Amino acid sequence: MMNNLAYIWMIAVWLLPVSAFAQEHTPDDLLSSQFHRERREALRAMMPGNSVAVFFANPVRNRANDVDYIYHQDPNFYYLTGHREPHAVLLIFKDKQRLNGKSYDEIIFVRAHDALRELYEGARLGKAGAKKALDFKVALEGPDFESYNIDFSKFDKVMFYDFEGDVRNTEEAGDLYDLIATFKKKANYPDKAPGTLTLEPHQNNLDTQTLDSLMQQRRGIKQPEELALLRKAVTISAIGQREVMKAMHPGMSEAEVQGIHEFIFKKYRAEYEGYPSIVGAGHNGCVLHYIDNYKPSIEDGELILMDLGAEYHGYTADVTRTIPVNGKFSKEQKIIYDLVYKAQEAGRAMCKEGATFADIYLATANVINQGLVDLGIYKSTDKEDMMDSRTGRNRYYPHGCCHHIGLDVHDKGETDTLKANMVITIEPGIYIPEGSPCDPKWWNIPVRIEDDFLVTQAGCELLSDEAPRKSEEIEKMMQQSSPFDQIALPAIE
Ligand code: GLY
Ligand code: MN
Ligand code: MN
Repeated sequence: MMNNLAYIWMIAVWLLPVSAFAQEHTPDDLLSSQFHRERREALRAMMPGNSVAVFFANPVRNRANDVDYIYHQDPNFYYLTGHREPHAVLLIFKDKQRLNGKSYDEIIFVRAHDALRELYEGARLGKAGAKKALDFKVALEGPDFESYNIDFSKFDKVMFYDFEGDVRNTEEAGDLYDLIATFKKKANYPDKAPGTLTLEPHQNNLDTQTLDSLMQQRRGIKQPEELALLRKAVTISAIGQREVMKAMHPGMSEAEVQGIHEFIFKKYRAEYEGYPSIVGAGHNGCVLHYIDNYKPSIEDGELILMDLGAEYHGYTADVTRTIPVNGKFSKEQKIIYDLVYKAQEAGRAMCKEGATFADIYLATANVINQGLVDLGIYKSTDKEDMMDSRTGRNRYYPHGCCHHIGLDVHDKGETDTLKANMVITIEPGIYIPEGSPCDPKWWNIPVRIEDDFLVTQAGCELLSDEAPRKSEEIEKMMQQSSPFDQIALPAIE
């Protein structure tokens, strides 16, 4: 809630009519309501007989006092509705239901209109808007969920994602807290045993397992409309990498490099970063998900690892480039870089319909492990010689190689058999932190190369090819001048 001072200030500053806060200029290439309706229909077709699937919007997270984190819809909820507002619940029924003499097989409860809140936050859809904009025959307001006449015990399965118990109760009636509490009461959701976080996957007719497997199947295969948005997100991210290659020089800060990428995302109207941007120079690049981006002055001779993804209309890329800050790989850096590149190419050669994530990982790991043996960095490819006993992982290639991308950076999708129109990453890496048990000349070399691929029947299409990948191509790109070279700002204390 806003404190009084903030209210007075904001009301004083913004003496504009409420209509001025309606969301104007919404992008014209958002997914259509028809797309989302068809996703609901496809899910319904896969649902077991006499079942209902229940989805809740993401919670609002408080950042401090009266400031919340930027709201981001739950990807399943967005996929199925296109609704971008919080405090909502969606029910999809396998079979037709009746309400006030009307037949329906899906219903959404959304926030009620509230002129004062809309003055601050912008227009809400409301139930009439939800029907129209989201293409629902039946839409009600959050507070109506309590009196909504539904007997969950009549379904063979009530499918939902279990609750983490971390949703705040706000002052607004029918908020997410109330919707969950009402659902629990109506569906006979039991008190959990003390200390347990989740329900048994199947308890009476409550089922917290099946829905995720259905969503994996649905979301893993991208529709043409989704592919168009993903291609855009990936291209924007790859252009960011390319422009940073031109702008990079020693003395820049990690945050400044992050800023150039994210400026380019915004320049192309990507709304968000798909995950916190990872920009680590030298040793920091060895921290797999380093997001502090604190280093004030990147040093001549260091590598910088940059793992960033633009999120465009909900769909996120995931692209990593590792480049020499001074524009030229050292001998050791180039050897390691080229080995990772060779591993990625081996993974790419495996990537086609019918392959598995494990096949691709193995292809990359074989190249990396043997290469590190040949360089004398590992003693042998025996598991014990390659393992770091503290983490239980391969010492220098300690992570997986593939995941789906889409509405999540680690998107839902099956991993056992690749199918056409899946979009995945291939991201081998070698990270050799200072103090590693090898010749110190290899220390502080972190390399990850991560690209995004569309799986096809015959193979795969590289989507992130706007950003050079080969060491020679990167060096060449880094010789080009950059518009960011011209930016000079006054020094401050
Ligand atoms: N950016 C996180 C990852 O590559 O999986
Ligand atoms: Mn990734
Ligand atoms: Mn990544």
